[in-house]
Amino acid sequence: MERTCLAVILAAGDSTRMKSSKSKVLHPVANRPMIAHVVDAVAGADISSVALVVGRDAEEVAKAASVGGVEIEAYLQKERLGTGHAVLAAREAIARGYDDIIVTYGDVPLQTDGPLKAARQGLAAGSDIVVIGFNTDRPTGYGRLLVKDGELIAIREEKDATDAERAVTWCNSGLMAINGRKALELLSRIGNSNAKGEYYLTDLVEIARSLGGRVTAVDAPEVEMTGCNNRAELAVIERLWQERRRHALMISGVSMVAPETVFLSYDTVIGQDALIEPNVVFGPGAVVDGGAVIHAFSHIEGAHVSAGATVGPFARLRPGADLAVNAKVGNFCEVKNGKVGEGAKVNHLTYIGDAKVGAGANIGAGTVTCNYDGVNKSETLIGANAFVGSNSSLVAPVSIGDNAYVASGSVITSDVPADALAFGRARQEVKPGRAVALRERALAIKAAKQSKR
Ligand code: UD1
Ligand code: CA
Repeated sequence: MERTCLAVILAAGDSTRMKSSKSKVLHPVANRPMIAHVVDAVAGADISSVALVVGRDAEEVAKAASVGGVEIEAYLQKERLGTGHAVLAAREAIARGYDDIIVTYGDVPLQTDGPLKAARQGLAAGSDIVVIGFNTDRPTGYGRLLVKDGELIAIREEKDATDAERAVTWCNSGLMAINGRKALELLSRIGNSNAKGEYYLTDLVEIARSLGGRVTAVDAPEVEMTGCNNRAELAVIERLWQERRRHALMISGVSMVAPETVFLSYDTVIGQDALIEPNVVFGPGAVVDGGAVIHAFSHIEGAHVSAGATVGPFARLRPGADLAVNAKVGNFCEVKNGKVGEGAKVNHLTYIGDAKVGAGANIGAGTVTCNYDGVNKSETLIGANAFVGSNSSLVAPVSIGDNAYVASGSVITSDVPADALAFGRARQEVKPGRAVALRERALAIKAAKQSKR
């Protein structure tokens, strides 16, 4: 039978060092609140019940933690008396009786399901406590894992450690698994007689052992256990997240010329054989199908780019942009809530907003769909294989039929039927020789001004 599990996520810290008006765990990594990354890792370890221990911004934190498929209950820790005290804020949830309790931190957003699963396996194999440790050459500030004969005998906090203990480089990530049937009994025995006067969760190691229980530790990659205390660390975490995701995408068949200049969002999807040139930024909700090319300096958010389509350089795709197979959106173009049909070309300096561009249509340089009258947004429909001449303004709501032509420089305010040619500009006049007279008059005016001085 499958073991039941509750994850207790500690997120009640004051975030003092973030120097922020909002809780640390609300700050984004890859365009998503830190806390949501943690809930995702928890969900990946087959845990569907979460007790979130919150302090400040309780409501916002609970909302940000709501990731699909996971049931979240928030518990307020009124005073911040230490990690052991924090876990007990979720006493009610723990008392429901789970096989496994996972304790994790809301400010460790790079964690994955791997270490959480390994810790749960340790419980299944008979340990009462399984601590998740990591090796580091900068152990200062962390609790040290003291091991003997393959068992964890204690976690020593930096402030309470001897010199010999401080030399240990295997550290406590803070994450651990606890036998759910014994958790409340063990937690209730934690006291606060230590250097900080706090209730240390780490005391569980010695408490469980004193009651005859087995305590072990599993190792996790240091990167995954990176915590966030200030904005400099937040930037490091962002960099590590980006590196990890870019690497995964490249391994899955995406080409990146200069990966260190490409920025992804938590949900960016890119298919095999897509090429991403340097300095491309993906906001949330971007899907790039296999074989598409994103040229340099493009910004893509809430948009879909189909196979064989090309974007940029210097293009911006905003939410609702949808490029069909082999469509082209070129330099200095913006598409918002607009479909660009199969093989259609929007190549230069154009705005397509609230519009549909038919398959094979050609939109000339500087075309603007005038979708907004200051109050309402309206739609522009451009038919298949239509041709819109350069520097045209299409004043929505308006439609251009299939195979129609719009002359350059037109302001189109009424519908153009299929196969029609539309002019929306003054007719050109040519006056032979008039340039000479014009220039002579200008020179005369200049001479008159100079003689007055
Ligand atoms: C803790 C561990 C230490 C470990 C380190 C890893 C203890 C006693 N020490 O130390 O062994 O190496 O984490 O980073 O557990 N929190 C609350 N309420 C509280 C106290 C803390 O919600 O009353 C939350 C914090 O928001 C944070 C986490 O628990 O997310 C850790 O708290 P923190 O004070 O940073 O613990 P450390 O002293 O760093
Ligand atoms: Ca800390």
